[in-house]
Amino acid sequence: MKLLVINGPNLNMLGIREPGIYGAESYDTLCARIREFAAAQGVEVELYQSNHEGDLVDKIQSAYGKMDGIVINPGAYTHTSIALLDAVKAVGVPTVEVHISDVSAREDFRQVSYIRAACAATISGHGLDGYLEAMELLMEGKAP
Ligand code: DQA
Repeated sequence: MKLLVINGPNLNMLGIREPGIYGAESYDTLCARIREFAAAQGVEVELYQSNHEGDLVDKIQSAYGKMDGIVINPGAYTHTSIALLDAVKAVGVPTVEVHISDVSAREDFRQVSYIRAACAATISGHGLDGYLEAMELLMEGKAP
């Protein structure tokens, strides 16, 4: 099984940006945790981060016919991007949306998620563990 884990804008600043909301662990630590978990589960994983919407669209498209699942934290593009929604719909790869913070308990503008309509599940507010939980859902086939 091959999983693609995508992080959107500002998630490369984990550990620096608003640690009270996103925690003290860095993006590199997140990547190490994901790689370690994937290895323990015997699944292949590719990690990708970009601050640019079109690059994120390209990466989602690259999963077509190649990946068995996508875990995506689109960052602020969650709340604005129809292009990311369309990309996930286009490739038809099972996808789980992840947010480190509990977006449902935050500002009104964070209550909208365009990509959610194309995702099998959303995990929000579980910190970095949320990425591993999303991978588990995909591995168990619970995110068709
Ligand atoms: C986030 C929540 C978004 O609202 C925000 O723009 C982010 C991170 C999260 O992981 O909690 O960049 O997706």
